[in-house]
Amino acid sequence: MSALSKAEVVQELNRLFAEEVEAALRYLHLANSVRGTDHLVVGPVLKQGFQETIQHAEVIARKIRALGAVPELTLDISLPPESMDAKEALQTALTFEEAALEAYQDTLRRVEGDIPLEEFIRAQIVVESEHVLELKQLLVE
Ligand SMILES: [Fe+2]
Repeated sequence: MSALSKAEVVQELNRLFAEEVEAALRYLHLANSVRGTDHLVVGPVLKQGFQETIQHAEVIARKIRALGAVPELTLDISLPPESMDAKEALQTALTFEEAALEAYQDTLRRVEGDIPLEEFIRAQIVVESEHVLELKQLLVE
C-alpha cells in the first residue's frame, strides 16, 4: 500500500496538472513566437505539442476527479514577447518537456507501492520520454 494518503495523492496529481497546463501555455506562446519561414517549419510541431500537453492535463484532471476531488490550479508564469527562430523554440520546448518528465519521475518515486497509480505515472513517463526524444532528434545538427 502506498505511504501516501488520498489527499497527498491528489496533491501530487495537482502538481502534475499545473505542470502540464503550464507546458501547454508555453507551447501556445512558443508556437506564436516563431516568425517567418521558421514558423512554417516548427509551427505544426509546436501546435501538436500544445494539443498533446493540454490532453495530458485533462487526463490528470480526470484522475483527480476519479479520486473524488476537484483540480487545484495556481500558475506563476510570465511569457514576454520574444521572437525566436525554429531552433531556439525547439530548445525551449525541450527544456520544459524535460522539466515535465522530471516532475513525473519525482511523483513516481513518491507514489511507490500504489500499483495502479504507479502504472499510470509510468505510462505518462513513457509518453513524455518519447516527446523529449522527438525534440532531441529535431535538434540534431
Ligand atoms: Fe505531457
